[in-house]
Amino acid sequence: MPDELIKWLHILYGYFHDLGIAVYIGGAVAMEFVLGPAQNSIPPAQAQVMGQKTADRFLWLVWGSLGFIIVTGLLRLQRMGMIVDEWPFFQPPVSWDESYGRTLFVMFLIWCALVVNGVLITFVLRPRLSGKMSAGISAAQVNARQGSRLQAARWIMHLTRADLVLALIAALLGASLKWGGIL
Ligand code: HEM
Repeated sequence: MPDELIKWLHILYGYFHDLGIAVYIGGAVAMEFVLGPAQNSIPPAQAQVMGQKTADRFLWLVWGSLGFIIVTGLLRLQRMGMIVDEWPFFQPPVSWDESYGRTLFVMFLIWCALVVNGVLITFVLRPRLSGKMSAGISAAQVNARQGSRLQAARWIMHLTRADLVLALIAALLGASLKWGGIL
């Protein structure tokens, strides 16, 4: 493969890796510090519609960026000769004995945690928020549904905050890789 092409592959993998990280962290910051406060300043019924509409769009960005991060991360390792296509697939410094390997492993664990939180928000909590109230249900059932919705909204807020902190820690660990890692 010509050197020029190899150089450009390194550049593009790094560029899309950083773009994925910027969209993930930027989106979480906007949800937390821009949308959240704005939502608290409008009537609850409108806040719920606004929350629903924006969160649906944000989830597409979340899954897109998490996909970009892992694919470009693995392609970068492969391009740097740290992943090969025969056992053992990972080559030094991607090993537990090296700070680089330990740092990258913790970044991978953080990425997995972000995916688990994403699955919980997308497939468990959001359906609870969006379900319609069917006609003729009792007042007690309406209260129970409202309670479950409020609880789901609170859990989504906690998980989104935890995701922001985790992604910021992963970014710090990522920035240390060029210097051999910090773990
Ligand atoms: C949420 C998770 C992650 C975040 C926030 C993150 C962040 C970063 C940052 C800030 C850098 C340094 C800037 C750069 O060189 O582009 C970086 C580099 C890198 N990341 Fe990620 N990363 C994440 C997950 C991963 C995963 C899961 C992998 C591998 C499967 C990975 C592989 C790499 C590689 C190979 C580099 C280049 C390191 C070097 O120059 O030696 N990253 N990452």
